[in-house]
Amino acid sequence: MSEIATENAVTVKNLLAALEGESNANAKYNAFATKADADGFHGAASLFRAAARAEQIHAGNHARVIVQLGGQVAFAIHEIAIKSTLENLKTALAGEQYEISTMYPEFLAEATAHNNTAAIRTFHGALEAEKTHARLYSEAIALVEAGKKDAWIGKTKEFFVCPVCGYTTETPNEHERCPICNAPWSRFEVIK
Ligand SMILES: [Fe+2]
Ligand SMILES: [Fe+2]
Repeated sequence: MSEIATENAVTVKNLLAALEGESNANAKYNAFATKADADGFHGAASLFRAAARAEQIHAGNHARVIVQLGGQVAFAIHEIAIKSTLENLKTALAGEQYEISTMYPEFLAEATAHNNTAAIRTFHGALEAEKTHARLYSEAIALVEAGKKDAWIGKTKEFFVCPVCGYTTETPNEHERCPICNAPWSRFEVIK
């Protein structure tokens, strides 16, 4: 059985926390997507599904590094409070903002201090991808608050998700390669 080297203990603990966060975000966003469709916010539902897929990609990346470092993959899915789509969007944005401003910068700093390249790569990809989610959630919140159901939030919409790092965009063929991880555009997943 593999063991976690002492210098990697905190990194593995952080990877497990991030894995749990991403897995719960995935479950939450899928539940929020169902609610958004029921509320007629089909574009917001598409965004929730795209972000859910990205979080699943992050969870998979974190899990791979946990195993590489000799750790064991484990997480719990917590109960999901489903509210109005506006409130759900705000909950989602708050989660992304926490990851962007606090969680991933701390985890990245720790992994960097230990020169742990695999952990740095997975934390960095997730951090940068969460910024794209925060931008899109903010845009959706403004449109819902303004009652603009005739804007993209009201219609099923295509989003493009990098299968390697979870970068998410509404613009087709925005770049030839993923601006975060350099994966080719041809590999991007279309989620709607
Ligand atoms: Fe996210
Ligand atoms: Fe990427």
